[in-house]
Amino acid sequence: MTAPNPETPPPSLPDYLRHIQERQAALRETCAKLFPEPIAITLELGCGHGHYLTGYAQAYPQETCLGVDLVTKRIAKASAKAEKRGLAHLRFLKAEARELLEALPEPVRLEKIFMLFPDPWPKKRHHKNRMVQPGFLADLAQHATPEARFFFRTDHEEYFEWTREILTEHPDWEITDEPWPFEERSFFQDLMDDWQSLVSKRR
Ligand SMILES: C[S@@+](CC[C@H](N)C(=O)[O-])C[C@H]1O[C@@H](n2cnc3c(N)ncnc32)[C@H](O)[C@@H]1O
Repeated sequence: MTAPNPETPPPSLPDYLRHIQERQAALRETCAKLFPEPIAITLELGCGHGHYLTGYAQAYPQETCLGVDLVTKRIAKASAKAEKRGLAHLRFLKAEARELLEALPEPVRLEKIFMLFPDPWPKKRHHKNRMVQPGFLADLAQHATPEARFFFRTDHEEYFEWTREILTEHPDWEITDEPWPFEERSFFQDLMDDWQSLVSKRR
């Protein structure tokens, strides 16, 4: 990585905002091309190197699968896996989870949503950075089918409890005792000795 040049001024606020708007517009365009028709999809948020969703898409060829992650290299690796295995119904995009939701065309509905080993942000003052938040779960529900499922897995005890409590009190989701639908070790799962999972459905 190149060190920032102290003589180069940081971008101005208007430049920064324009950059975000352009990125969001590009993502909307990509999503519109990817999903030209109404469709219900399987989405993995924070898919990393794509191990889980690639295995899943092989097992469920009838589902249209989309994985998103913030890190370009991880998306490149994940996309290479999908291509190598000839999985045309599986796509990976570099995108921030909330921006992806905003960019999805209205007729695209979420049927299954996976979140495996999301960054736990263990310090209390960083909890606001966690992907699981009541508002974000409400946004997911807004884009979901009536029968949608949200699948969550973590090795982090406290993040597990955080998510369990939010889902228990959430107006849009309820925890079920359904089994985890498919097993394939993700990159992070492979590094862990133990983890816990939650399955919830739309109320
Ligand atoms: C600990 S890794 C887990 C990756 C993968 N799920 C696994 O189990 O191997 C968390 C991933 O979430 C991604 N991530 C974090 N926040 C995100 C966000 N807001 N939107 C999309 N991806 C995000 C990170 O870039 C990282 O690849």
